[in-house]
Amino acid sequence: MDRLIIVGAGGSGRETLDIVEAINGPDRVFEFLGFVDDGDAVDLDLLRRRGAPLLGGVELLRDLDAAYVIAIGSGSARRALDAKLSAWGRIPVSLVHPAASIASEVSLGPGAIITAGAKLTTNIRTGRHLHANLHATVSHDCVLGDYVTLNPGVHVAGNVILGDEVTCGIGAVIIQGRTIGARTTIGAGAVVVHDIAPGVTAVGVPAVPLPDRMR
Ligand SMILES: CC(C)(COP(=O)(O)OP(=O)(O)OC[C@H]1O[C@@H](n2cnc3c(N)ncnc32)[C@H](O)[C@@H]1OP(=O)(O)O)[C@@H](O)C(=O)NCCC(=O)NCCS
Repeated sequence: MDRLIIVGAGGSGRETLDIVEAINGPDRVFEFLGFVDDGDAVDLDLLRRRGAPLLGGVELLRDLDAAYVIAIGSGSARRALDAKLSAWGRIPVSLVHPAASIASEVSLGPGAIITAGAKLTTNIRTGRHLHANLHATVSHDCVLGDYVTLNPGVHVAGNVILGDEVTCGIGAVIIQGRTIGARTTIGAGAVVVHDIAPGVTAVGVPAVPLPDRMR
């Protein structure tokens, strides 16, 4: 049984604990030790109601032999934490909710969190620490970089390439064959019909970069 720590004790962390519990069932695949979080805004009452301890800050993982997942929505924050935790020899695990679907020839990078209703079909490659949130779908032959975030209800059509740290807002749609550059954010409800450059925030239908967000 893998001893498991969830990094991030906010709402996303508690949702991730739901996934751990759904995976565990009677078989106890993971021994959940608790949360670690460096922030000062953790709602301890909500954790207590889940019977889940806040063990301390991330530093605790330096000497604690346990696997981890990073339940933090920001891709750049996941990148920084992944670098630190990997340097300490900690190994991320991937969590796939039993009500998610990972079909054929999907190569899931380490640290993925795939929530209920998310679906990845065939011949898909993902990088490290993908978050695919509720009912997000990824179709055939896509390549997703490291630290990609698909918020609830995002639909990625076939042959799409998402660069490292791409975030797609809730309900965004990306048509087939498009490329979105690294560190770009796609707004909630956007429809991507053209390639989108790296490092921008693009919104609307069709999605275009906000002029003042070009980095
Ligand atoms: C795109 C987004 C990241 C921009 O956030 P921001 O940088 O704070 O941008 P602002 O709120 O300052 O908005 C800037 C402009 O873009 C517009 N805009 C923002 N988000 C938009 C969206 N999703 N669709 C269309 N227009 C949008 C605003 O109306 C504003 O226009 P204006 O300058 O004409 O008034 C954000 O609005 C968004 O969609 N986030 C996704 C949230 C999400 O998916 N959460 C899920 C958590 S599980």
